Amino acid sequence: MRAWAIANQKGGVGKTTTSLCLARGLATAGNRVLLLDLDPHASLTRAFEVPADPPPSGTHDLFNGSASGLLELARYTHIPDLQLVAAQPALATLERRGATQPGLGLALGRALHTVRDVYDYVLMDCPPTLGLLMVNALAAADRLIVPTQTDPLALHGLADMLRTAEMVERSRRRPLPRHVLPTLFDRRTRTGVQSLYELQDRYGDRVWPHAVPMDTRLRDAASLVKADPPDGRGVDMYRRALKWLLETEASGDARKEAA
Ligand SMILES: Nc1ncnc2c1ncn2[C@@H]1O[C@H](COP(=O)(O)OP(=O)(O)OP(=O)(O)O)[C@@H](O)[C@H]1O
Ligand SMILES: [Mg+2]
Repeated sequence: MRAWAIANQKGGVGKTTTSLCLARGLATAGNRVLLLDLDPHASLTRAFEVPADPPPSGTHDLFNGSASGLLELARYTHIPDLQLVAAQPALATLERRGATQPGLGLALGRALHTVRDVYDYVLMDCPPTLGLLMVNALAAADRLIVPTQTDPLALHGLADMLRTAEMVERSRRRPLPRHVLPTLFDRRTRTGVQSLYELQDRYGDRVWPHAVPMDTRLRDAASLVKADPPDGRGVDMYRRALKWLLETEASGDARKEAA
């Protein structure tokens, strides 16, 4: 099983859309995929139109001991091989408890360990804040995918996120490979094009050498979930991004085996 965290401390950069498109692509390719919604705002959960608001069970239960594990929280979706653990608003209260309750930072990693034979991929959609939920996801992840908008402000947000990842990597003493996915790219604007070049200059082969364009068909996550199959230029570019991520994963594995 591979765990991918999709995170950026900056909001509105395409984390949820990326989580959804990559998870769907992995499931379509025959992988057993679990999506974890770790954002108290629950955009991903809403996109799947999970009944009951707030959902009676979800990712918050992993932190309060009321559920024995991920398996009983995972819901089937109408997409074959794709399951979801919903977000509950109570997630928002966790950050405060995390500071006083030792061991809470590793709760997610422990939960993932118990399902390592059940899923091929677990994708974690993180909230746009550096707190207990994001740290849990980074501590548990085999790799970090950072969607980033292509504008100068977003480049600052990206630098912050990569620094956080480095800190987590040092404390867990296990490499955390990181990949940058340029999103919401508008090639008609000069700042968009310049920011994309700057990203590539600064971060080299950590950056996917393309970008997901602005595409109105990616504007609404719920219709993206319903579309069968989803289509459009944005979705096509996410398919290409997934191919690149799988290739870099495979070459990382090959390097590890050779070492
Ligand atoms: N490539 C795209 N083209 C057009 N709209 C997009 C694209 N990617 C995402 N969007 C839209 O932009 C908004 C923000 O995207 P998304 O929710 O995926 O970002 P996020 O980083 O998860 O946000 P948050 O930090 O609030 O969780 C959403 O309305 C989404 O549907
Ligand atoms: Mg989101």
